[in-house]
Formats: sequence, C-alpha cells, structure tokens
Amino acid sequence: MHPILLSPILTLLLLLFFFYSVDATTSFSSEETRNKEIQPKETPVCSQTFACGPLQGLSYPFTGGARPAHCGPPEFHISCVDDSPELTIMSLRYRVLELNPVHKNLRLVRSDLWNSTCTDKLANTTIKSEFFAYNENDDVEVSIFYGCNSSTITPKPENWFHCNVNLPFNDSYYLIEKFPIDQIMSGVKCKIETTVPILKTAAAKLGANRSLFQEAIMEGFNVNYTNPYDKECAKCPNFNTGCGFDPHTNRPVCLCGDRVCDLSGTIFHSIRP
Ligand SMILES: *[C@@H]1O[C@H](CO)[C@@H](O)[C@H](O)[C@H]1NC(C)=O
Ligand SMILES: *[C@@H]1O[C@H](CO)[C@@H](O)[C@H](O)[C@H]1NC(C)=O
Ligand SMILES: *[C@@H]1O[C@H](CO)[C@@H](O)[C@H](O)[C@H]1NC(C)=O
Ligand SMILES: *[C@@H]1O[C@H](CO)[C@@H](O)[C@H](O)[C@H]1NC(C)=O
Ligand SMILES: *[C@@H]1O[C@H](CO)[C@@H](O)[C@H](O)[C@H]1NC(C)=O
Ligand SMILES: *[C@@H]1O[C@H](CO)[C@@H](O)[C@H](O)[C@H]1NC(C)=O
Repeated sequence: MHPILLSPILTLLLLLFFFYSVDATTSFSSEETRNKEIQPKETPVCSQTFACGPLQGLSYPFTGGARPAHCGPPEFHISCVDDSPELTIMSLRYRVLELNPVHKNLRLVRSDLWNSTCTDKLANTTIKSEFFAYNENDDVEVSIFYGCNSSTITPKPENWFHCNVNLPFNDSYYLIEKFPIDQIMSGVKCKIETTVPILKTAAAKLGANRSLFQEAIMEGFNVNYTNPYDKECAKCPNFNTGCGFDPHTNRPVCLCGDRVCDLSGTIFHSIRP
C-alpha cells in the first residue's frame, strides 16, 4: 500500500480506538459488534430530507416530515398542511411559497390571509427576530384597518372592503405605506389597525388597480433567514448529520449518526424526543 494512504486509515483507527476506549468500562466490544457499529445500519434520521408542496429536499436547519423536531431549531419547523408548507413565527402561521437555501430567502404569506383579506387574527405581522428579517429591498408595508365606522361615506373608495369580524362596524380599508394619508380615511375611526408586508412589485400593480389587494397579499413577501447556531454547528465532527437541537436545554447539539456527540466525536446518548 502506498504510504500516503496509510495516514487517513491510521487516523480512523486511532479515532475508533478512542471511541471504544470510552465505552470500555461498560462492556468489551467483540469483533462482531464492532463491525455492526462501524457499518452504518441505515441513514441517520437527521440526514434525511423532506418535501412538502412546492418545497423539495428540505434539510437542516429545517425540520418537518421525515425530519423530527430534534433535527433542528424549533423556529425552522415546517408543518405540511394539505400539501402546503407552513412556518409559525411569533404565533402566526405563514404559508411558505418559496425557499432558497443558498440565498437564505423565504417567500411567505400569512396563512390567515391566504384567500381572504378578512381575518380574525387581528395581529400585526411581526417576524423580526434573530432568525428572520424582512427583505427591505423587496417589501413594502400595507396597513389594514378593520371595524371602521364609515357608513356615511358613499360611494366607497376603491381601497374599501367589507369584513365582518365581530366588531361594531364592518367597513375595512387598506393603505400602502399609509401614504399619501387618504383624505377619506382621515375622518374615519377604525377599531383595529394591522400591518402586512407585500412585494414592492405587487404594490405597484395594486397602485394601478386597487381591486388587486387579495392578489397582492397572496404573492407574499420576502424574508431572509439566519440560523444563529450555524457557527456552533460548524464545529461538530460529523458534517453530514451535523447538528440537532435539544428541546430540553434549548441548545443545539452535535449529532453523530442518530446520537448526540461532543466536538471530539465522543458519543453520549440518543436524543430524547
Ligand atoms: C437579504 O438577502 C438578500 C440576498 O439574498 C440581500 O441582498 C439583502 O441585503 C438581505 N437583507 C437583509 C436585511 O439581510
Ligand atoms: C382557501 O383555500 C383553500 C385552498 O387553497 C381551501 O381549501 C379553503 O377552503 C379556502 N378557504 C376559504 C375560506 O375560501
Ligand atoms: C400594529 O402596529 C401599529 C403601529 O405600527 C399599532 O398602532 C397597532 O395598534 C398594532 N395593531 C395590533 C393589532 O397590535
Ligand atoms: C359612527 O359615525 C357616525 C358618523 O360620523 C357618528 O354619528 C356615530 O356616532 C359613529 N358611531 C360610533 C359608535 O362611533
Ligand atoms: C356586518 O355584516 C354582517 C353580514 O356580513 C351583517 O349581518 C351585520 O349586520 C353587519 N354589521 C354591521 C354593524 O353593519
Ligand atoms: C382590476 O382587476 C380586477 C380583478 O382582476 C379586474 O376585474 C378589473 O378589470 C381590473 N380593472 C382595471 C381597470 O384594469
């Protein structure tokens, strides 16, 4: 054998020796069980990918489908609801239209606004965190006003829509960037104001045809994501299975196969579900 080939094999053997010497106090590993351990039995669960609707080959940091919750941070858990991928960010659900793992971009739509601009989730769209950020180059904010007392205003302006959400009044309006401050809106009192980002390109179409509000919402908005645990995970010994997440400590953990290991590759235990 060529001498250069010897060194990686030697390293491997040394690693294996180290690995088993850690375990040596409990039992003596026979040749047979060693072989069993060395040959990977099956694909470790966290190196599997999953697909949902338009998204294919989802891997770390995302979990869902074939990838159980311990394969990544809970912030990146995707539920597949009727073949539609959904992320929950700050207790609001979002439909994921696109996901680009290279540029770390997502295209999201609030699930509650998917086919109705009338929602009972009267909350602002807030996604800013250490995990997610609006892509300010692409997005623009729309304000939606619900429960407005504007019965005396006739005819209704084009940014008006009817919405019965159990408020004393059913009139609703939207304003792009609240600008220009709508003359009609200045006299109208509304119970609830919420904000939703849309794409600038959709806002331009909406400016040309004010009836396209639902369409504009359903095009979604762009979000960049960051995994704050990337640096820690890069130190893990096994790049393929990489990193998991321990929900009990709320910390990332290195994975070697299906088990938790430390930076040197010493294996501790299976992750507790
Ligand atoms: C989001 O990502 C794009 C590239 O994909 C980049 O141009 C932009 O600056 C990023 N925005 C933020 C807020 O990180
Ligand atoms: C919204 O669209 C989904 C399919 O995309 C459909 O299953 C659902 O019934 C629709 N909901 C309403 C309120 O129209
Ligand atoms: C949404 O944010 C605006 C300020 O940007 C605030 O006035 C409004 O009350 C918020 N709406 C809700 C439902 O929290
Ligand atoms: C609704 O608006 C009308 C006209 O501006 C006003 O007379 C009425 O008092 C308002 N009702 C409430 C409950 O604010
Ligand atoms: C709101 O709309 C519903 C029907 O969608 C109607 O029954 C109700 O009377 C309306 N309420 C007000 C205050 O206009
Ligand atoms: C605006 O969009 C609606 C819905 O797609 C369409 O029916 C209408 O003709 C459009 N109006 C104009 C002026 O283009």
